[in-house]
Amino acid sequence: MSSRVVVLISGAGSNAAALLEAAADPGFGASVVAVGADRYGAGGLDLARQAGVEAFTVPFADYGDRGDWNAALIERLDAYRPDLVVSAGFMRILGAEVLERHTVVNIHPALLPAFPGAHAVRDALAYGVAITGATVHFADSGVDTGPVIDQVAVRVDPRDDTASLHERIKSVERRMLVEVVGRLAREGWSVQGRQVRLGGSGTRQTPSTEYVAEENR
Ligand code: GAR
Repeated sequence: MSSRVVVLISGAGSNAAALLEAAADPGFGASVVAVGADRYGAGGLDLARQAGVEAFTVPFADYGDRGDWNAALIERLDAYRPDLVVSAGFMRILGAEVLERHTVVNIHPALLPAFPGAHAVRDALAYGVAITGATVHFADSGVDTGPVIDQVAVRVDPRDDTASLHERIKSVERRMLVEVVGRLAREGWSVQGRQVRLGGSGTRQTPSTEYVAEENR
């Protein structure tokens, strides 16, 4: 049976779009049952509707209190009975109650634990790193601190600005996200301490190289 996935977004939704496209294949192992946003007009909501997937909004701005917003989000999430919630460009910290009830996977545009937070690409560029990338991890109650599932490296070009570097990161991160979500759905996982194991064998599977950036091959 296909795993039920709810994708949470705040913006353009290119990662959500990649998941919607992949999940259209029954062999993927996961179905996107809804795409939700924390603000009206997030681009990815239209992409969901076009794909025939339910779209919902729990606008942060409409709630005076973070606790109330979390409670409203939980109500929406619970209704979809997701096996996995994917935070794909969702720029809000999820409350402990959400994380207790749901398994949340987050995509972050840096090689964690470097450059957590909302401005990862800008921060990596300002630091002057030669290599950055993206991380898929299970969310915990910290800011981008949960156990790492997979990472991909992207070389910084001296001519990069935040936009150009972020575009290159996005082109590889969505492939990684699709790969990881598909594998979590098809193979299952276990987490011991900070070690994430995909599949039932208890050993780390060899990551696919399909999403490795050209320059890193
Ligand atoms: C992605 O690069 C994602 O990694 C990042 O937001 C972008 C969303 O793009 N997430 C964070 O920065 C979370 N801290 P998208 O809306 O086109 O998928």
